Parts: sequence; C-alpha cells; structure tokens
Amino acid sequence: MSMISGSPLGDELFQSSSRLKKIEATSLPKPLKTRIISVSNQKGGVGKTTSTVNLAAALAAKGLKVLVIDLDPQGNASTALGIEHGEGTLGVYEVLIEGAEIKDAVAVSPENPNLSCLPATIDLAGAEIEIVTAFERENWHALLKTAIDTYLAQAQASQTKLGLPDYIFIDCPPSLGLLTVNAFVAATEVLLPIQCEYYALEGLSQLLRNIERIQQALNPQLVLSTILLTMYDSRTKLASAVVDDVRHHFPAQTLTSVIPRNVRISEAPSFGRTVITHDKSSVGSLSYLEAAIEIAQKGAQNGR
Ligand SMILES: Nc1ncnc2c1ncn2[C@@H]1O[C@H](COP(=O)(O)OP(=O)(O)OP(=O)(O)O)[C@@H](O)[C@H]1O
Ligand SMILES: [Mg+2]
Repeated sequence: MSMISGSPLGDELFQSSSRLKKIEATSLPKPLKTRIISVSNQKGGVGKTTSTVNLAAALAAKGLKVLVIDLDPQGNASTALGIEHGEGTLGVYEVLIEGAEIKDAVAVSPENPNLSCLPATIDLAGAEIEIVTAFERENWHALLKTAIDTYLAQAQASQTKLGLPDYIFIDCPPSLGLLTVNAFVAATEVLLPIQCEYYALEGLSQLLRNIERIQQALNPQLVLSTILLTMYDSRTKLASAVVDDVRHHFPAQTLTSVIPRNVRISEAPSFGRTVITHDKSSVGSLSYLEAAIEIAQKGAQNGR
C-alpha cells in the first residue's frame, strides 16, 4: 500500500475499495409491490439498454428479484444478459401477438439466479405493424400490461418458477411507437437515461408530453420517477454543463450517481455479461451499483 498510496492510481484503488465496501454493507428495501420501470428515450444510443441490464444486475446482486423485458427488436438487452434470442425463440413477440404467456418465455440469466429476462427476437420488428393492421384490437396499447398482470397474478399464486419479481425493467426501442406506448401503459414509472452531450435535451419535451398524455388517457399512475445521467466524461466542460442543466430542471428525479464513460461498461456485452459480473470493482460497475441503491432507497422514501 505504501508503494502506491498518495499516487493517483493508489488513490483511485483506495476510493474504489471504500465505495465497494459501502455498497456491500448496504441492504436494500424490498418495494411494497412490484415496481415496473420503463427505460425510455426516443433518442438512440443514450444508454437505455446498458442502464437496464446493469441496474437490473445490480439489484439482483443485492438480493432482489428482477425481470428484464426486452422490448427492442434489436435484442441488445437479451444479448447482454446472455439470453438466447435467435429466431424461433419464444419471446416478447409471441407474448404480444400470439397470446403466449410470459412465464413460458422467461429465461434465467447466467448472471444471477435472481435475474430473468423475457427476450426479444427479430420478429418483434414486425410487431408494430401487426398490432395496428392485423389486430385492430381496441386494447392494442394494453397488450403488454395484460401479459404482465397475468404473470404477476401467477407469480403471486406460486405458479411460476421464478417467484414474484421486485422489479420489472422494460428496455424500450429508440422511438415513441406502439411498443413504447405499450411500455408506458404497463409501467408504474419511467426511467429516462440522458447522455451527457450537446443534444441531450433535444426531444425531451416531446417525450414528456407523451408521458403526460398516457398519464391522462391510459395510465394515471405513470410518473417520470428517475433520470440517470450516462456516459459522463469528466474532462469536458460540456458534460458538466449538461449535468447542471438537467439537475436544475429535474431536481427531484435526477439521481446523484452519474454513470461515467467507461470501457468496462462497453466491453461487457461482448462477453455476454453485465459490468457487475464482468468487473465488479470497476468505476462503471460501482456507479451502476450506487445508482441501483439510490433507486431502491428513493423508492422506499416515496412509498413505493
Ligand atoms: N457508460 C458508458 N461508457 C462507455 N460506453 C457506454 C456507456 N454506456 C453505454 N455505452 C455504449 O454506448 C452504446 C449505446 O448504448 P446503449 O446500447 O445502452 O444505448 P441505447 O439507448 O439502448 O441504444 P438504442 O437506442 O440503439 O437502443 C453502446 O455501444 C454501449 O456499449
Ligand atoms: Mg437499446
């Protein structure tokens, strides 16, 4: 220790190990009922999937039961959680369009026995069109909600292998189409990841208007509960200006924890892992663990 203490590397190692100790010493409250969190931003590549899988893995690592619903035809969340999602796999498409049950399509992630995933196959790419054209269903917007309600009732009656989830995260595609509307109708909360870059706030008012509309017409309980700042680069003034701006506009929603730009985070999916198991003491993993703790604690403070 004396060799490296006082050096930047030594300080960093010391900081990481004290952050990890604190994380490990914290036990998380279970929510009163399943929190269903839609991770949404119609802007592409802002960290929706990365935040979904790493927050889910972080909560699972802290002993909570988590289900991730991959609602993006790209299937990135399924990949990151090491879940099979080739053509022919039973997934969210079959649940929405063919009436399959979630309990028959969920798979446990090799990450953690507390963590399961309803995968997305490429079939889901056609779902938006099928929902409107073939079905003309009056309740097209509630297809996901109905399936989740059934799953939760079955879990409560001990009819599922995995038990009642404490958290369900829905990884949305980068659009405000029918799939995202289904997520907003099914969810109790929205988590909005914002990338710390120049265009970050563009399109935000459109998203907020959409949430408000869904709230008024279809799902009164929906709230934007959480904003997570992602891909923060401490070397740029712009990044800290974005952080200040978002905190100024959304003081109650914005988490104190900010996710830094970190190579361990971006390389983890290529190992079919989240950063939490890939490199637990990396700054990326520590940041997601701290953000997950904050989400659980703030939830408890707000009666969730
Ligand atoms: N904190 C981070 N540090 C480094 N790279 C990151 C970080 N967060 C995300 N990335 C990388 O940025 C890219 C976009 O992230 P991600 O796929 O999570 O965004 P997304 O919002 O889900 O994208 P899409 O809109 O396409 O669904 C990915 O290559 C991911 O690995
Ligand atoms: Mg994504």
